[in-house]
Order: sequence, then structure tokens, then C-alpha cells
Amino acid sequence: MRRLALLFAGGAVWLFLAAIPVFADGGPHIASVNSGTAGLNADSCAGCHRAHTAQGEFLLIEEEPAMCLVCHGASGTGATTDVENGVQYTLGTDPLRSGTVLGYTRAGGFVNARIGSGEAVRVAYLSGTNVRQNGKVPVRTAGSQPVTSAHMPNTAGVVGEGDGIAWGNGPDSVTAYAGPEVAVGCTTCHNPHGNGQYRILNTLPDPAEAGVDVFVPAATAAPVTDAALPPTGDTRNYTIIQTNGGTGTLLASQVQALGLPSTAGDYWRRKVPWNGTTGTSNDAPNGQSATFYSQISTWCLTCHTRYLSAGWDVQTTDNIYKYRHTSNASSRNCITCHVAHGSNAQMPDYNSQHVAFPDNITGGQFNPVSSTASTDSRLLKVDNRGTCQMCHEPTGTITAGTQVGPTPVPLLP
Ligand code: HEC
Ligand code: HEC
Ligand code: HEC
Ligand code: HEC
Ligand code: HEC
Ligand code: HEC
Repeated sequence: MRRLALLFAGGAVWLFLAAIPVFADGGPHIASVNSGTAGLNADSCAGCHRAHTAQGEFLLIEEEPAMCLVCHGASGTGATTDVENGVQYTLGTDPLRSGTVLGYTRAGGFVNARIGSGEAVRVAYLSGTNVRQNGKVPVRTAGSQPVTSAHMPNTAGVVGEGDGIAWGNGPDSVTAYAGPEVAVGCTTCHNPHGNGQYRILNTLPDPAEAGVDVFVPAATAAPVTDAALPPTGDTRNYTIIQTNGGTGTLLASQVQALGLPSTAGDYWRRKVPWNGTTGTSNDAPNGQSATFYSQISTWCLTCHTRYLSAGWDVQTTDNIYKYRHTSNASSRNCITCHVAHGSNAQMPDYNSQHVAFPDNITGGQFNPVSSTASTDSRLLKVDNRGTCQMCHEPTGTITAGTQVGPTPVPLLP
């Protein structure tokens, strides 16, 4: 009822706005443009809405997610990023997307991705008296592959809104309970009108329930600080190419100026540069290396509540998530190990295929080993459990300075 009222009020205003096209680079999602504070001459509305000839609900040019893919799809032309293939192109004029690949995007892809999940590199270094590991996951040499897991499912290459269990949503539970089934679309996570947040992420995701169980929204909003908007004539860098210095952010033009091939960059991005032991910074695509990791993890935790760890050795009162690996520290946060959209990592072997999803419950008892094999990669960036080996060498036999993985070492950064 409230949404319907808003639709009418907003729709009436919008009819006046659509006529005057003035559009800053950086996309149609800029809050100050859509709110009107930047002037009553927004061009953005016309990217997504039609007054009389709409093809989707809310007077949209298409139903979601197809309407987002009009610009962000593989054959979209209205944005430099192609989220189906996890690619960013350089900025063109008309169309906005040129034919030149700038690089491969941080979130992976919904249909195909080019994460070099089988080409990870690791180098041991001395930290005090401990031997520790640094790693890098490059862009896949042999090109892109179909994804093996994604936050939204694709059927024969068509990305759809999907129902799935919001794993671990809700408070700790003494009875085995994996989480509610919800509907996830692009606007579950992103705010199409802009909100000044990193990647226009909704600060309080509240997906519609698709089953009987109730989704428990986070008690407090989870903001993720944004970088400054790009100047007119440029666009942001959404690729995995970062340089050091804590600022993290580069504009698309600055990435071009580096002169690196489009296959440069690091999907693991635990440290920038990946093999530095001093003078490194954390992953900081918003230029906030001291806070990005905790903000982005807190954001993922708005849905996956029970993935928050109080320390790997702390036993919780939850029946399924009894002990939990650290997941919100600077060097091991949700998006150190996972991508946000979809991954092509491979799970060819037995043990990785028999890791149960949290709903493997029989007779009220959770079993962490599944009796049926699954090649789902759970948005991980490295094949099988190579993820663990990116940081751990449990035998204690590798000495500092030893590098494992393919040579030559993939390009810095
Ligand atoms: C990037 C695409 C996009 C742009 C740009 C955009 N909208 Fe929307 N708009 C949507 C979507 C998607 C919805 C459906 C509700 C939602 O997901 O928030 C929507 C919903 C609305 C609503 C219904 C109220 C609501 O939020 O539920 C109004 C009114 C509206 N838009 C007006 C505008 C106006 C006016 C502009 C330009 C100033 C604009 N929109 C720009 C995508 C867009
Ligand atoms: C489950 C939440 C979620 C859903 C669903 C989702 N996104 Fe994202 N998206 C994110 C997050 C988080 C990031 C930031 C990832 C990072 O910086 O590592 C992101 C990044 C992006 C980017 C920047 C490019 C990149 O790859 O980093 C674009 C563009 C984008 N999303 C568009 C979309 C579109 C279009 C859809 C629907 C087809 C969608 N997203 C669905 C969470 C989501
Ligand atoms: C009319 C074209 C158009 C449509 C439709 C559109 N976008 Fe965008 N979007 C852009 C452009 C242009 C940018 C700037 C970056 C780029 O070139 O990819 C952008 C940027 C983004 C970003 C990164 C924002 C940031 O903070 O830097 C996200 C996330 C995103 N879009 C999600 C969506 C989602 C979700 C939808 C559907 C509701 C959508 N877009 C529909 C054109 C569009
Ligand atoms: C140290 C690496 C690492 C970090 C950090 C991490 N994960 Fe995971 N995650 C994994 C692995 C590996 C799996 C596959 C299942 C397994 O082996 O337990 C997984 C699986 C999942 C799943 C699928 C359901 C399941 O449990 O199998 C969800 C949801 C998930 N992680 C969410 C998160 C969230 C949210 C965060 C941040 C709060 C996070 N993860 C941080 C490694 C990690
Ligand atoms: C809006 C709620 C929401 C947010 C926010 C969210 N997720 Fe999820 N996540 C889901 C749902 C629902 C599923 C189940 C999807 C399915 O089964 O298709 C899921 C699935 C997953 C999986 C398992 C994927 C698979 O198919 O194996 C992982 C891993 C995961 N999420 C990690 C993350 C990380 C990391 C973040 C933050 C970048 C995040 N999620 C943010 C709702 C969310
Ligand atoms: C990004 C780096 C990173 C990844 C990836 C990672 N770990 Fe860890 N892990 C750590 C760090 C650092 C600690 C130390 C304690 C802490 O953070 O709570 C730790 C702690 C542990 C511990 C507790 C004992 C100890 O050595 O302190 C175990 C067991 C463990 N990890 C296993 C795994 C497994 C299994 C995987 C793969 C599913 C994995 N880890 C992936 C960084 C990582």
C-alpha cells in the first residue's frame, strides 16, 4: 500500500523530469541526481523507467534483473561493467561501453567468470619467528569459464531472481536451523536510485521471504563508506587492479595509464601488493584500508548473521555453526575468501564435493558431511580447498622465501 502511494507521488514528479537530459558519468545511480538536489534535470530516470511504454512493474523498461542487464549485461551498452561475464570495458561515448577490456571485476560474474582459481601462487615469508603465507589469485590464463556458484542463479545463461536459503540468518539456535528461504535480486543488495554507499549497497538488506520461515533483518544498518564520485568524462575502476598506498582507488583512466594488460590484478587481494611484507595495505577499493574489511563483512553479516566469529576457539550456543573461522579481520574477511556475485572455481575432488550445506539435517541433527556430491564452489576463489592453503601450511615444512604455484609469477599488482 505504502509502495503504491510512493509510486503515484514519484511518478507524477518524474513526468516533468524526463525531458531534460543532463547526465554525469558514473552511472544513473547517483543519489544527489535522483533526489533532485543536483537540479531538476535528471537524465537517469530515462535509463530505467518509461511513463507509458514500460515493460516491467514500477514502470521499468524490463522486469528485474533483465532491466539492470540492459546496461550491465553481456550485450548491454549503457555501462562499462558486464556483470554476466565479470568484465569492465573502458569508457566510450555512445555506446558508453567501448570494445576494449579494462580488466576483470571484483565480484566475479553471474554467468561466466575469469578467476584463475587453478593458478594460485603462494610465497612464504618470515613474520617475527613465524613462517606465514602471502598469496595471489590471478586472472585465468585460458579465458573465462561458466560459474559454479552464484548469488543469483542462471538457467542456460539467463540470470534470474532466485530463491535460496539465507544461510545462517537469525540468532544462534540450539535446535538445528540453517536459515530462511528468501528471494534475491539485484535490488536486494543494491539501491538503484543511489544512497551514497560503496557500490550503492543497501545498508539494511531485507529480502522477501520465499518460504515459511521469517527473515531476521540486522538490528542496525551496515554502511560501507564510498569513495569520491568520478569526474565527468571518467568512470570508476571496478577491476581487481589496485595499487599500493592505502588509497586503493583508481579511476578507469588511471588503470589505463598504468599500461598493464587487462589480465593484471589479484582476485585474492589480501594484501596490496600481494607479496609485500612491509608497506602493504589491505584491500581498499573505496580508499579506506583501515575500515573497508570490517564494513564489508558487517554488510554480508546482515543476511548471514551466524557467520560472525568470536574467535575460532570460541564455542557458540548454535547447533550448526558451533565453531567458526575468523571472518571479519583485516586479512581474512568475507571477500578475502569469497567473491560477491559468482565464481568459476572448480571442485573436482571428493572431499570438497561432500562438504554439506548447513541444511543437511536429519532427525534434528546436522551432519557436516554430505552423502551426495556437489560441484558448487560456494563463491570461493580457489579450487577445492586451495583457499585454506593460501594462508596455512599446516605441516610446518615450508621455509620462508619458498614460492609455490605457476611461474612466471602473474603480473603485479
Ligand atoms: C538504475 C535504474 C533506475 C533509475 C536510474 C531510476 N529508477 Fe526509479 N526505480 C528503479 C527500480 C528497480 C524500482 C523498483 C523499486 C526498487 O527496487 O527500489 C524503482 C522505483 C521507483 C519509484 C517507486 C518508489 C520506490 O522506490 O519503490 C519511483 C517513484 C521511481 N523509481 C522514480 C524514479 C525517478 C523519478 C528517477 C529519476 C530521478 C528514477 N526513479 C531513476 C530503478 C531506477
Ligand atoms: C548478494 C548481494 C548482491 C547481489 C544479489 C548483487 N550484487 Fe552486485 N555487488 C555486491 C557486492 C557486495 C559488490 C562489491 C564487491 C566487491 O567490491 O568486492 C557488488 C558489485 C557490483 C558491481 C561492481 C562491479 C564488480 O563486479 O565488483 C556492479 C556493476 C553490480 N554489483 C551490479 C549488480 C547487478 C546488475 C546485479 C543483479 C544482476 C547484482 N549486482 C546483484 C552484492 C550483490
Ligand atoms: C541506463 C543504464 C543502467 C541501468 C539500467 C543500470 N545501471 Fe548500474 N550503472 C550504470 C553506469 C553507467 C554505471 C557506472 C559504472 C559503469 O560504467 O559500469 C553503473 C554503476 C553501477 C554500480 C556501481 C555503483 C558505484 O557505487 O560505483 C552498481 C552496483 C550498479 N550500477 C547496479 C545496477 C543495478 C542493480 C541495476 C538495476 C536495478 C542497474 N545498475 C541498472 C548504468 C546503468
Ligand atoms: C577463511 C576463508 C573464509 C572466510 C574469511 C569466509 N568464508 Fe565463507 N566459506 C569458506 C569456505 C571454505 C566455505 C565452504 C564450506 C566449508 O568448507 O565450510 C564457505 C562457505 C560459505 C557459505 C555457504 C554455506 C556453507 O557454510 O557452506 C556462506 C553463506 C559463507 N561462506 C558466508 C561467509 C560470510 C558471510 C563470511 C564473512 C562473515 C565468510 N563466509 C567468510 C571460507 C571462508
Ligand atoms: C540479502 C541477503 C544476503 C546478503 C547481503 C548476502 N548474501 Fe550470501 N546468500 C544469500 C542467499 C539467499 C543465498 C542462497 C543463494 C542460493 O541458494 O541461490 C546466499 C548464498 C551465499 C553463499 C553460497 C553460494 C553457493 O551457491 O554456494 C555464499 C558463499 C555467500 N552467500 C556469501 C556471501 C558474502 C561473502 C556476502 C557479502 C559480500 C553475502 N553472501 C551477502 C543472501 C545474502
Ligand atoms: C586469509 C587467510 C586464511 C585463510 C584463507 C584460512 N585461514 Fe585459517 N586462520 C587464519 C589465521 C590468521 C588464523 C589465526 C587465528 C584467527 O584468526 O582466529 C586461522 C586459524 C585457523 C585454525 C585454528 C588453529 C590455528 O592455526 O590458529 C584452523 C584449524 C584453520 N584456521 C583452518 C583453516 C581452514 C581449514 C581453512 C580453509 C577452509 C582456512 N583456515 C583458511 C587465516 C586463514
